[in-house]
Amino acid sequence: MRIFSGIQPTGAKHFGNYSGGFRQYAATARQGEGFFCVVDLHSLSVPYDPVEFRNTCLDLAAMLFATGLDPEHSTVFIQSHVSAHAEANWLLGAVATFGELNRMTQFKDKSAGKESVSAALFAYPVLMAGDILLYQTDVVPVGDDQRQHVELARNLAQRFNARFGETFKLPRGIYPEEGARIMDLQAPDRKMSTTGGTQLGTVYMLDEPDEIRRKFKSAVTDTGREVRRAPDKPGISNLVEIMAVARATSPAEVEAQYEGQGYGKFKTDVGEAVIELLAPIKKRYLELRGDPTGLERLLARGAEKARATSAPTLHRMYDVMGFVPRVRD
Ligand code: TYM
Repeated sequence: MRIFSGIQPTGAKHFGNYSGGFRQYAATARQGEGFFCVVDLHSLSVPYDPVEFRNTCLDLAAMLFATGLDPEHSTVFIQSHVSAHAEANWLLGAVATFGELNRMTQFKDKSAGKESVSAALFAYPVLMAGDILLYQTDVVPVGDDQRQHVELARNLAQRFNARFGETFKLPRGIYPEEGARIMDLQAPDRKMSTTGGTQLGTVYMLDEPDEIRRKFKSAVTDTGREVRRAPDKPGISNLVEIMAVARATSPAEVEAQYEGQGYGKFKTDVGEAVIELLAPIKKRYLELRGDPTGLERLLARGAEKARATSAPTLHRMYDVMGFVPRVRD
């Protein structure tokens, strides 16, 4: 089974990324041949700092290894090191329509209220479709917010195959049973997010323990006092999911364990569980980050494997689309 997923090097990574992203990568990678990509090209779609960019890309690569991807088993690489991604993006742009891109809710959210948004932000799901399709991917582990983008990749693959001939495998998104959409601790009606969330409601993977404690202590809860999930209890429901992810158990077990206990103790315990989960990850991360040459070597190896794996599909795309073959003289 071929697995592909990507993650953006914009901003510090948070618990939502852990739950819907990193945690799933490490779990699914064991079940097949995994390709995991730091999608630096995607991050150009919003304003960013070119001076910081190099570092944030390496930070993210270190985090992918620190959360459990084994370089001996999985391929971790930087998107811009494999030029097939930029090329596939352009070629797939021929089958994507303005109308379907205009329906992407993430684009609507990210562009709302902005005076100017980049063309790249609009076209972004096409680049993502190329990422996935170039690897003849079977499954794409992601969080819930990427559902529409994975569906688009599937639709583009189908349309391309129908128009030009069988080229792509149809990928399938896989979403965690719990923790597929972690919400902001201060505003549980919005997802936890570096760009769209509140400062106090976003728990970063590299936050100091005291900071994590403070954020969970001040998490908004709901009326009532029972620790259980319910549509009218978005704050507590979110904390139950976070606890289940942090302790690698189920929400039902968390509810059973806290039956009859108030919110106060529960909030403290969720904070401690998250601190416990993140401590060894942070330790490994700092070790990896302390050896930039070693990290760059792993990424170079990953890019080489990714280039070799994606090349046949890219060539097939050019071929079936009718381009003049490149001949060596
Ligand atoms: P990105 O970088 O925004 O997020 C990385 C992963 O984290 C998940 N995630 C969440 N999961 C649960 N709760 C949340 N609050 C939360 N916030 C983020 C995301 O669902 C994602 O799995 N477009 C993608 C990157 C991408 C990609 C790809 C993914 C580019 N090419 C190809 C898969 C396949 C993105 O911006 O993810």
